[in-house]
Amino acid sequence: MPSIIVLDTLSPDGLALLDAAKAHGITYEVATGLSGDGLREALARHDGAICRSGVKITAAALAGNHRLRAIVRAGVGTDNIDKEAATRLGIVVMNTPAGNTLSTAEHAFALILGLSRNVAAADASLRAHKWDRNKFMGAQLAGKTLGIVGLGRIGQAVAERARAFDMRVLGYDPFLSPDRAAELGIELIDSVRGMLPEVDYLTVHTPLTDETRHLVGMKELEIVKPGIRLINCARGGIYDEAALAEGLKRGVIGGVALDVFEKEPCTDSPLFEMPGVLVTPHLGASTEEAQSQVAVEGVGLLVDFLTTGAIRHAVNSSAIDPAALEGVRGFLDLSWRLGLLLSQLDSAAPRSCSIAYRGEIAARNTRLVTAAFAAGLLEGSIEDVNIVNAEMLLRERGIELVEQSRTDPGAFSSVVAVDLVGDDQVHRAAGTLFGHSMPRIVQLEGQRLEAYLDGILLVFTHQDVPGIIGRVGNAFGQSGINIAQMTVGRSTPGGDAIGVLNLDQEPSPEAVAAVAACPGVKSVRVVKLPPAGQLPSWLAASSASSRTARRG
Ligand code: NAD
Ligand code: MLT
Repeated sequence: MPSIIVLDTLSPDGLALLDAAKAHGITYEVATGLSGDGLREALARHDGAICRSGVKITAAALAGNHRLRAIVRAGVGTDNIDKEAATRLGIVVMNTPAGNTLSTAEHAFALILGLSRNVAAADASLRAHKWDRNKFMGAQLAGKTLGIVGLGRIGQAVAERARAFDMRVLGYDPFLSPDRAAELGIELIDSVRGMLPEVDYLTVHTPLTDETRHLVGMKELEIVKPGIRLINCARGGIYDEAALAEGLKRGVIGGVALDVFEKEPCTDSPLFEMPGVLVTPHLGASTEEAQSQVAVEGVGLLVDFLTTGAIRHAVNSSAIDPAALEGVRGFLDLSWRLGLLLSQLDSAAPRSCSIAYRGEIAARNTRLVTAAFAAGLLEGSIEDVNIVNAEMLLRERGIELVEQSRTDPGAFSSVVAVDLVGDDQVHRAAGTLFGHSMPRIVQLEGQRLEAYLDGILLVFTHQDVPGIIGRVGNAFGQSGINIAQMTVGRSTPGGDAIGVLNLDQEPSPEAVAAVAACPGVKSVRVVKLPPAGQLPSWLAASSASSRTARRG
């Protein structure tokens, strides 16, 4: 029975949905404030986790986890989750990108207005029984210039609000089209430095990355428009806090409003003692509406994933919707099996692989099918491989994976053909599906044949000479091994040939040696594949749960 752990305080609307998910056999536990071993142990007991920004899901917290399959961040920023560690373990990380957009944009505006009219300082002064009307001279927004760095969801919502306040809006975002910018009334500038001398207010709405870290630092103080007011409602660290304090001291900066800090929680900062500073403790998304929306959306993502295998808003995997999964289910099984087969034909590590799709399959979601092949290829060597982490694990090992597609049909309506290139050898296999779910090998090492892709296989290359099949059959007969099916492929009579035997049981090393000793046999490999119909655990889980969900 799948279970979920709630790691940060979640809105009651989200918890109500979790209660309702019990009908789908999903249980949940709320455990907030966890860290260290307590967090690691808790994560290892659940299939899914949901959090906000409080808990830190580090590589150490995920170490040795064989159970967790998904982490959902009820919010935007996933910087409190080690995504690389999660991906390596095959754990999908999803977020709820839009639920708190408006609340955060409004908070940015609250800070812009609060800063301009000294709201917090005036409030504190009056509460101290002072009627000080001269001290709190403010600035009007209309006619002023606002610079926005990062014009995604929140940045655009801020721009719309700024236009309503009759502000001129300059923006910088490498991914905003000039047309969309024009629609929003934003003048696009091609760098942050380019806008600094012009703007009265600067607000940032990007993630914290190597590029955005300390976007405004000591050097930028030299070029900003004197009296500039800086607002950060995105991530601490985008402004260099030491430079902000210095700029305020020198009078270059007219005001600073921060909702986020380089280190959080932040309860002490030189900025707290300075005039012209307005601070809130990461409250951008703290509205009833935003929290309800991200919790409901987040729980929905997790329950959908655990019941149907659907992946939406993933930040470390491509989206998988149940319909796409259903449409390629048989091919996922086929290519996973081709991966398992090829991994057993050679013990040397491959340098690269290429996977070619031909026919109907080429028009479907081949990304997933390729990932399934990679999962099969690595499964024998690496624990917990699945379609989320397989390609990354291949890349980490320096193995290139290339995909090609052509939709015109060949000899079969759909074929998946794979080449595994090693230092001095290339192994080739191609397969198709009979019906919707019966995988077959249709080419091996360049020879056409037709063999089952399940159970125990004996693959032997040989010279196409009379009597060889009889000799091989005889060798197994003497060892008491039953051959369920035999198929042979060759390009020219008397030339190189390959045989595939489907065996009823695994042959002993002596029986394999007896086959290898048959005159004309060049190489022998035993390949162990799952029985027909047995799906990989990552595919079986989603099929079983999707069946449960449909029944429920
Ligand atoms: P988004 O992904 O919709 O937009 C981010 C934008 O930043 C993108 O358009 C991207 O192209 C742009 N960008 C990235 N690097 C850039 C760079 N170097 N220069 C210029 N632009 C760059 O994200 P969003 O939902 O708008 O959220 C923005 C930020 O706000 C995130 O960091 C998020 O974590 C944070 N956030 C904070 C709160 C809060 O409580 N304070 C709430 C929600 C979101
Ligand atoms: C976010 O990235 O969504 C914000 O930091 C809001 C939050 O969840 O605290």
